[in-house]
Parts: sequence; C-alpha cells; structure tokens
Amino acid sequence: MTATAVRPEWGAVPDQVRAYIESRLGAAVAEAQTCGGGFTPGLAARLLLADGNRVFVKGIPDEHPMASVYREEARITAALPESAPGPRVFWTETSGQEAGWSLLCLEDLPDGNPDLSPGSSDVRAVVDTLLLLRESLTPSPIPEAPQMADVHGSYLCGWAELAESVPADLDPWARRNLEHLAGIEKGWLDAARGSTLTHGDLRPDNMVMSGGKAVVIDWSYLSQAADWCDAASLVPHLILAGHDPASAEQVLAPLLGLVPDPDVVTAFAAAFGGFWERSSRNPAPPNVPHLRGYQARAAEAARRWIAHRTGWV
Ligand SMILES: Nc1ncnc2c1ncn2[C@@H]1O[C@H](COP(=O)(O)OP(=O)(O)O)[C@@H](O)[C@H]1O
Ligand SMILES: [Mg+2]
Repeated sequence: MTATAVRPEWGAVPDQVRAYIESRLGAAVAEAQTCGGGFTPGLAARLLLADGNRVFVKGIPDEHPMASVYREEARITAALPESAPGPRVFWTETSGQEAGWSLLCLEDLPDGNPDLSPGSSDVRAVVDTLLLLRESLTPSPIPEAPQMADVHGSYLCGWAELAESVPADLDPWARRNLEHLAGIEKGWLDAARGSTLTHGDLRPDNMVMSGGKAVVIDWSYLSQAADWCDAASLVPHLILAGHDPASAEQVLAPLLGLVPDPDVVTAFAAAFGGFWERSSRNPAPPNVPHLRGYQARAAEAARRWIAHRTGWV
C-alpha cells in the first residue's frame, strides 16, 4: 500500500511515551516499522520486541484533536466478540493519565492490506470476512451504538450542497445529473436502520491479511445499521481496485442481495459519492495531505457505480 498518512516514526515519539509503552510491553523495542496506510497523523507501527514477540501499536497525544477518535477505537475494538474478524487487543491506554497519549496495542497481523483487484484471492477472503462480520455483530455487542443514519445522515448531502453553488470543475456527467443526484441521496436512510454493529469506514487499508483471512482493523466510528451497509460501502473500493461496477456488485452479491429495494443501494451510492465529491474540494486537514486526492478518486468510482445502476448519461 502506498504511503498515505504522515506519521511520526517510533524514534520521534517522546522518550517518556516510548518508555511507558515498553513498560506495558514488558520488553524493549528492537525494531519498528511505520505503517503507511490510513490518513490519521498518529503513530501506527509494527514493533519487534527484544524478547522476540511482535505487536502493533497505535497512538496519539491526548491534546491532539483526533485523540477522541483513537479512544473510541480502543473502546469498540475491545468490545468486539471473539467470533468477529477483528484484531486481538493486548492493552489500551485511554485515561490520559499515564503517558499523556491515547494508545492501543494489538496483535501484529503480518500479511499487509488485502489486494482487491480482479482475480486476487484476497477478494474471496474479504467477502467471507464481511459475511462473518454480519453474523458475529448482529445484534450489536454495543447496544447503545447510535444508528448510522442518525450519525451520518445529516451531512451526506453533498450533491444538494454542490447544486447550490456548482463548482466550475465538476465532472460533466455529475453536472448533467446534479438535480437527480441531489434528489435521491437521502433515499437510503430509513432502510439503513438496523442492529448490526458497523465499521463505517471499510476500505482495503482498514483490513489486514493474516493466514489467508482478512481482519478488519481501525474501528473508529461507533454506529449500528442494517446488515448490508458495510458491504455496500466497499463497492467503490472494488471499483478503485480495477473492477467494473457490475463485477464489483457481483463480488458482493451475497450481501447486497439483502437490501430490500434496489433504489436504496443507488441512493446509498449517491450519498457517499456526493460526500466524496463535496469533501474532496475542502482544504486538507493539518498533516493529512493525501485525503482530498483519495476522496476525488473515490468520488469518480462512485460516479461510475451510480451511472451503472441508473443508466443516466
Ligand atoms: N494489527 C495490525 N497489524 C499489522 N498492521 C496493522 C495492524 N493494524 C493496522 N495496521 C497497518 O497500519 C495501517 C494504519 O492503521 P489504521 O488503524 O487503519 O490507522 P488510521 O487510523 O491512521 O487509518 C493499516 O492500513 C495497516 O496497514
Ligand atoms: Mg485506517
């Protein structure tokens, strides 16, 4: 996976934080490999310890604006049932009292982000993982998780916002169909209500292969939803990896077949496509230089998906 995040190297982490991590690990760090995937600017490193063990550690200073996201990830990941295809949690530090950093120590998963390109054996493994997520996370192990429709519904209206002030560089297909897109982008919200704990940010860089299985990592956003939502959100990522929209849908047919009404999937595609289209035009957040380019590519994949489903020209 190409580097996307700008992260501190292990050696750049303050001495007292490294000492705290090593005290929790019970061994000194012999080698550290910074992980490039993802977009947050925190520490994410695979560590080889002096005792021969390996772990993965993620962390960020408590005063950083994203620290609450890291703390939420620690809470959700620790609550995943053993049957779910998530990483084993060794320990977390979220009190903010010891190290002054929020930390998450996970089992080290050795085989890198899955390759979602057509013909890759990882694709089958990812579909198996999605089926297992659905089974193991329904009903949600965190019953008080808010509904995805309530958490995201209010801001997934990118096409309506773009229609109010149409950017000069808007893709011609999107420009021609802007009113239609704005008209459907909220049509998924009622059908998305459900009791499956959802990841909400499923992408190849939020999965890691281990022993032929795809493990889902980076559980940063607490929500529950209908059991097809995470699968539907992966369609644009299959397209980005080289599938055409029909083959991406075919790959995910065992899960997309659960959606009661095809228009709901089209509306879901429009909601995320509009979000990416709109967000890609925002200024980059501090220390996150690659996010907007990724959103522009994701928006293009979503446009292709919507065009395939609607036949709009
Ligand atoms: N348990 C793990 N074992 C090995 N590598 C991991 C593990 N967790 C994450 N990674 C690697 O680190 C990258 C960033 O991790 P992630 O939790 O997604 O960070 P971010 O919150 O910045 O997106 C992942 O894309 C993956 O390559
Ligand atoms: Mg990530």
